[in-house]
Amino acid sequence: MSLRVGLFDSGLGGLTVLRQVHAHYPHSASLYLGDTARVPYGERSTEEIRSIAAEVVHWLRQQGIGVLVMACNTSNALALDVAVAEAGVPVVGLIDSVAATLSADRIGVLATPATAASGAYRRAIHAWNPDAVVVEVGCPAFVPLIEAGELQHPELRRAALTYLAPLLEKKVEAIVLGCTHYPLLVPLLQELLPADITLVDPARAAVQRLGPLLASLGDLPEGEQLQDPVLSPLLASRICVTGCPRAFAQAAARWLGSEPQVEQVQLKRQQA
Ligand code: DGL
Repeated sequence: MSLRVGLFDSGLGGLTVLRQVHAHYPHSASLYLGDTARVPYGERSTEEIRSIAAEVVHWLRQQGIGVLVMACNTSNALALDVAVAEAGVPVVGLIDSVAATLSADRIGVLATPATAASGAYRRAIHAWNPDAVVVEVGCPAFVPLIEAGELQHPELRRAALTYLAPLLEKKVEAIVLGCTHYPLLVPLLQELLPADITLVDPARAAVQRLGPLLASLGDLPEGEQLQDPVLSPLLASRICVTGCPRAFAQAAARWLGSEPQVEQVQLKRQQA
């Protein structure tokens, strides 16, 4: 199997990007790495995030991918240059992809503490709209609760109210979900926000950029073509984790609709 699209994240979040890739390109196969032994990334130092990105992207390259999609905003914000240098194939980013598509002038960004502190979203949005008001909020409570499957936990709602307050105060018109775990919070966020605030998932803009790149890779060889576009992309994807594969498969089933096969891999410098 030629694995065309490589993606990685600290854990489950990047599956929201994988889901978009499958929805738009049902005939492409993918390789996903969830670095669950080191989740969360969002409270690590810049140095750690960059060194992890180098290691993970090097591993993906060794497996043979045709294009890399950054399925982790934190790595995108702090280590895009590292990923580009290691990948050896075209790299599609979330942050630059979505920044080019935003039409609102008052924009909120919910992200991990590392992404928010980096100012990467603000810079990318200002490159297109220098007058935009951009409010970036770091949300440390979200990823651990999502990874634990605690989507109904009262703490999630309390945290969301706290993180949304500065965005509402600045009267934002759109909120970018600047962490790939956050699309899973859409029902909660919609409940807490006025209906006229648009929630933006950067993966939608990123997958638009993927089309021409996949086309340039050409068709999969005959015999490797996916037969059933609805079911096959998931079955044809290789999903790997650095932590416990069983826990990941069970948690992923809630998002993907069926339990994927998950394999455990050991990266060279991986430490918990
Ligand atoms: N899902 C990732 C992101 O988009 C990383 C979250 C984390 O591990 O803190 O930033």
